[in-house]
Amino acid sequence: MLSYQSYELPEDFKTGTATSSLQIEGGDRNNSWYRWAEEGHIKDGTHCIVADDHWNRVGEDILLMQKLNVSVYRMSLEWSRIEPEEGKFDTEAIEHYRNEIKLLKERGIETLVTLHHFSNPLWFEDRDAWVNKESVELFTRYAENVVNSLGDLVSNWVTINEPNIYLIYGYIFGQWPPGKTKIGEFFKGARNMIKAHIRAYEKIHSVRRGLGFNDTRVGSAMHLRLFDPKSPSILDKIVCWLYDYLTQKIFLSGTIEGRLCFPLGFGSGKDKKRYSDFLGINYYSRDIVKFVFSPGEAFGRREVKKDAEVNDLGWEIYPEGLYRVCKDMYNLYTLPIVITENGTCDKEDAFRTKFIYDHLYQVKRLIDEGVAVKAYYHWTLMDNFEWAEGLSARFGLYHVDYETQKRTLRKSGRFFSELCEKKGVDEDMINKYLKD
Ligand code: FCB
Repeated sequence: MLSYQSYELPEDFKTGTATSSLQIEGGDRNNSWYRWAEEGHIKDGTHCIVADDHWNRVGEDILLMQKLNVSVYRMSLEWSRIEPEEGKFDTEAIEHYRNEIKLLKERGIETLVTLHHFSNPLWFEDRDAWVNKESVELFTRYAENVVNSLGDLVSNWVTINEPNIYLIYGYIFGQWPPGKTKIGEFFKGARNMIKAHIRAYEKIHSVRRGLGFNDTRVGSAMHLRLFDPKSPSILDKIVCWLYDYLTQKIFLSGTIEGRLCFPLGFGSGKDKKRYSDFLGINYYSRDIVKFVFSPGEAFGRREVKKDAEVNDLGWEIYPEGLYRVCKDMYNLYTLPIVITENGTCDKEDAFRTKFIYDHLYQVKRLIDEGVAVKAYYHWTLMDNFEWAEGLSARFGLYHVDYETQKRTLRKSGRFFSELCEKKGVDEDMINKYLKD
C-alpha cells in the first residue's frame, strides 16, 4: 500500500502548462518538421500539418487552461511564420501572437515565450541552420524583431529550447531534421546556439529597456537528464561524467556564464556576468550509463534501470531525479529555478496523477531546503505532435481526439487543476485521486 502525504506550495509559487508551436498549431508548411514528416520519418506515420489545429482554436484552448486554474503558460513562436522569407517579417503572424498573448493576459495567465523550439524556417534549414555561423546573426535579428513587436506584453523569455536535444537528435542520432550523424556539426551547432543565446539575451534586455521596462527575465530551457553509472567501476563513472559534460554541462556553462568550454573553445568565463536570469530546467527521466568497448558508441551505452517503472516510451519514472538535478544546478549557479517542462507519456492516464504528485513533492522538498524554485510548467496542456514519435505519444492533461479535435480533461488534469487552485495537495485530493 502506497502512502501519500499532503503538502503545500508557497503562495507565490506559479503553476502552469507548456506547449510548443509546431507541436500544436498545425497549418504551416514552411518549416523543417513539415518537410521531415512529408519525407516519411515519423515513426507512427502521422504528421504535424494539423496537429491540434491550435492556430484556429486559440480562444477555445485558453478556456481549457482556465479550467486548469493555471497562472502561467509557456508557449513558443513559430519562426517560419514570423519570418517566412529571410528578412521579411509577417505582420499578420505577429498580430496573431499578440492577440493570443493579450487574451491570455485578460484571463489572468502570464506567458513565458520561447523563441525557438526545435523547428526552423525552411530558408534557414537550407542554409545549414545552426551549423552555419550566420545563424547567430539571423536568430538575433529575428529575436529583436519579435521583442520590438511583443515586448510590451511579455517580460519572460526563453531564447532556445533544449539546444542539446535538438543537436543530439538532428546531428548525432540522425532521427530529427536534418537527419545527420556528424559529431563535428554537433559541436559547431552547439557553439552557434550558445552564441545566439548570449546575443539574444542581450538584445531582449536592451529592446525592453528601450521600451521602458526593467522587469525582463531571459533564460534558456535545458533538457537535463540524470546520468548514473551502472556500477561503481571507474570506467562506468568516467563515461557517465562524459555524457553529462558533453550533452549538458558545456551547454549550461555557455548559456549561463557565456563560456565556451572545451571542445567548443577554451573560454574562461572571463567576467562574472550571467547570461541567464533563471535556470530553465526540462526534466523527464534518468539514464544508467555503462562503459562498453565500442568506439562507435563513444564507449558508453545508456540503459534503463533494471525493474524501474517506465512510461509509454520506456523512460524511467524517477521523481527524485528532479530533486537531484535542481539541487546540483542551484549549488552550481544559485539562480532562481523554473521547471520549464516536466511530464510523462501515458496514453491510458494510468500513472500521470501520481507522476505529478511525486514530482511536485520533490519541488516542495527543494523549496523547504532553500532552493529557489519559482514555477512549474507541466508538459503538456493537451496531447500533441511528439516529434519523431508522432501523434500517438500522449503527454496531455487533456486527451485529444484527432478526428474531431475534441479535447477531454483527463483524471490527471482534474488533479492538476485542483493542485493549482489549492497550491498543494490535501487529504481530500489524496483520497479522490491517488488511493485505489
Ligand atoms: C522535450 C521537448 C518537448 C516535448 C517533451 C516530451 O524534450 O522540449 O517539446 O517533446 O520533451
